Amino acid sequence: MQSSELRQKYLDFFKKQGHAIIPSASLIPENDSTTLFTSSGMQPMVPYLMGEKHPLGTRICDSQKSFRVVDIEEVGDGRHGTFFEMLGNWSLGDYFKKEQLHWIYSFLVEEVGLNVNNLYATVFRGEESIKVTKDSESVDILKDIFKKYGIDAKDVNFSEKDGMQGGRIFYYPVEKNWWSRSGIPAKMPIGEIGGPDSEIFYDFGVDLKKHDNSEWKDLPCHINCDCGRFIEIGNSVFMEYKKTENGFEKLTQQNVDFGGGLERITMASQNTEDVFQTDLYLNIIKKIEELSNKKYSDDKKSFQIIADHLKAVTFIMGDNRGITPSNLGQGYIVRRLIRRAIRFGKQLGINEYLWQTKLAEIIISDYKDIYVEIQNNKDFIMDCLSAEEIKFENTIEKGLKEFSSLSSQNIISGKDAFLLYQTYGFPIEMTEELAFEKGLKIDMEEFKKESEKHQELSRTASAGTFKGGLADASEQTTKLHTSAHLMLAGLRKFLQDSVSQKGSNITSERVRFDFAWKDKLTQDQLKQVEDFVNEAILKDLPVICKEMTLDDAKEINATGVFEHKYGERVKVYFIGEGEQNISKEICGGPHVEHTGTMGKFKIIKEESSSAGVRRIKAILQ
Ligand code: SER
Repeated sequence: MQSSELRQKYLDFFKKQGHAIIPSASLIPENDSTTLFTSSGMQPMVPYLMGEKHPLGTRICDSQKSFRVVDIEEVGDGRHGTFFEMLGNWSLGDYFKKEQLHWIYSFLVEEVGLNVNNLYATVFRGEESIKVTKDSESVDILKDIFKKYGIDAKDVNFSEKDGMQGGRIFYYPVEKNWWSRSGIPAKMPIGEIGGPDSEIFYDFGVDLKKHDNSEWKDLPCHINCDCGRFIEIGNSVFMEYKKTENGFEKLTQQNVDFGGGLERITMASQNTEDVFQTDLYLNIIKKIEELSNKKYSDDKKSFQIIADHLKAVTFIMGDNRGITPSNLGQGYIVRRLIRRAIRFGKQLGINEYLWQTKLAEIIISDYKDIYVEIQNNKDFIMDCLSAEEIKFENTIEKGLKEFSSLSSQNIISGKDAFLLYQTYGFPIEMTEELAFEKGLKIDMEEFKKESEKHQELSRTASAGTFKGGLADASEQTTKLHTSAHLMLAGLRKFLQDSVSQKGSNITSERVRFDFAWKDKLTQDQLKQVEDFVNEAILKDLPVICKEMTLDDAKEINATGVFEHKYGERVKVYFIGEGEQNISKEICGGPHVEHTGTMGKFKIIKEESSSAGVRRIKAILQ
């Protein structure tokens, strides 16, 4: 089945089961200080999983653009990409295990047409330390499902030593079958939600040639062993727990959070050797073959890295948030991906001028009907890619030469690694990778000292990983979130009524707010905005949420960057009533109930964020 048909079938199938289809949220999370990127479909759903009411009801589904920075090094194994689409469906305190498992298996078997004999399941084994018992309920349901398809499914405990043991359903420990944004229970911050899950694996068959070099080739197979035979294609999380100071407590509602990788389900459906040979990558791979004059089979790893990284940066830069390659946050990751792709392009012998834009063209044309934003931002993407390629092309050769001359030593000093960064623009991860390939080490301690000394490298080291603190900080982030609405209202009043928000990021300490405006703001303008927000706080205005259709929201001139995010019905937050109303914005919340609780608002910085976009950082004292 073609991927576009598969994506549509999934949404149609869950629509039939009463789900509202929502468009993908941005890859750059709004008002979420925990992560730089949206890395799973559930991330934008967190407030609703925690109990807030979703304007579209209790059954939601979508196909979400996702990016996982932690998988950068994994790309090349055929089944990992940093960018992927996650098919997701959610029960927000509505249906639970039985409906979810029945539906998802019938989707895969009856709609996609996967051979049920190739499907295997895992379930949660139970974990004494958090007092959550084994999920035998899911096992019973799964047995019924397999029975429906004529399979007598045996459930067994996972065992590395004994392998499959003729099983179809496997109990795995908490490390494998518990899901939260931050991983296992011990790593979850207080306030974070999670739960046991049941994963679906597809058996691609024992292909000895494929696994000749596998470190698992002489070991008994088990479905989670990572040898490449079994690949996880979907995961139903039964999200009903919250971590508290006193251990795990049940949430007020039982949720389902399902996520399935479109690329991997397509791979199973098209029975290809890897995801890069599905129709989701076909045109890109073809173009790389053309540019390099090589065949995909000559150097699969380099092809996969280039295809994945270019797709990822096209989507990140194409996401209406004005992310450009830089040395900070998301921009740093974009820079790292582009430069890494350039290095592997060199390895393949690609030397056409601005070759990355040729690939971006293909990616945009492949996806523009589903994710129209990449088409709308095409010029921006092309300009950024060209500028970055030109910049790095100027230094990469010399840098690689410099690296070769350094590699006669056993260890690369931190000073040298820093020189490669500062003079030749080598992201430290690239130097690390080059060093690893040559069996060398880098003195990272010294590198850190060196970069701190120069205060040059302000990248976010833990990019993409969950930093926690969300729940602890929720009250303060809520206040800062409301201050962002007030700030936008102020900017529209004192600059121009058409000022639009380009993104925001809130931590418990500050709000960072990006908006479209060309010029640096004057001290006077900043003071006007600051005073405007503080006046609103002094007036102790009520904050009221109303649900309405998107059309009605537009009719009353509500602002909002998420215009199409929630489909038909949206929430609009009003600050102040009647005559006193100063802000109405489409937003998922949460917000304070009265502005008087917020404290004193202070702008601490105003700077350029990217071309045509200004950035304000502000705090509440
Ligand atoms: N959140 C789960 C995952 O990412 C299921 O959607 O695997």
